[in-house]
Amino acid sequence: MLNLLLVDAELELVPEEIAGHPTIGASAKRRKKPATKMLLDSSLHHSAMKRLAEPERRGRPDIVHFFLMVALESVLNHRGLLRTYIHTRNDQLIAVDPLSRLPKSYPRFVGLMESLFIDGRVPSRGQPLLSIQAGFCFEDCLHEIPHSETVVLSETGESCKLKDCFRDRKDLLCVIGGFSRGDFRSDVLSAADRVISIYEQPLTAWTVASEVIVNYENAFES
Ligand SMILES: C[S@@+](CC[C@H](N)C(=O)[O-])C[C@H]1O[C@@H](n2cnc3c(N)ncnc32)[C@H](O)[C@@H]1O
Repeated sequence: MLNLLLVDAELELVPEEIAGHPTIGASAKRRKKPATKMLLDSSLHHSAMKRLAEPERRGRPDIVHFFLMVALESVLNHRGLLRTYIHTRNDQLIAVDPLSRLPKSYPRFVGLMESLFIDGRVPSRGQPLLSIQAGFCFEDCLHEIPHSETVVLSETGESCKLKDCFRDRKDLLCVIGGFSRGDFRSDVLSAADRVISIYEQPLTAWTVASEVIVNYENAFES
């Protein structure tokens, strides 16, 4: 089994401290929603976000959307050999049912994530496809997800061919950063069995996810 964990994902509701900003107000009015029940999105809320700490990296639900599309639609997931999790900057852990088929449309994905943050699960009744739990730091995520080895993907890691790296390692947890700039906020390195780089330049989180998924599958086929 391959476990993919997107760590420090920049996914959060609009923080109270900027809810009164005119840009946020306009966005809330357009969507007919209370400001603090909307996802923070840097493409819409850029000017209001200047008041937040670390404004340059926050408000990136699009990264989570792309990542989940790649993971859930993969052959490995269809074969039942992939588990996908999201850890957020506010230490929430989102568990994703492998059978989930999430909206391809970004606005619909945003609406779904807002329901998840507000209700704690989607759908609100029956078997949850997505569920979110608060108070899960990175270390707690490691205890929650069954695995025998932790591999952190980082552009500063040891250069490695993924296919070779995955041979003989069956229950892996691969950690990928869910942000577009900067470094992990969580202390991922201290828990890592290996820290690997798969290319000499920074890649997007979803590109790394797709490389990991395909190479994991190929490593066991050959
Ligand atoms: C867009 S990167 C994070 C920001 C990056 N420091 C930058 O400035 O572009 C997202 C994540 O993808 C993974 N990643 C990106 N490039 C990588 C590489 N060359 N090798 C391994 N993992 C990589 C890491 O897990 C990283 O946290």
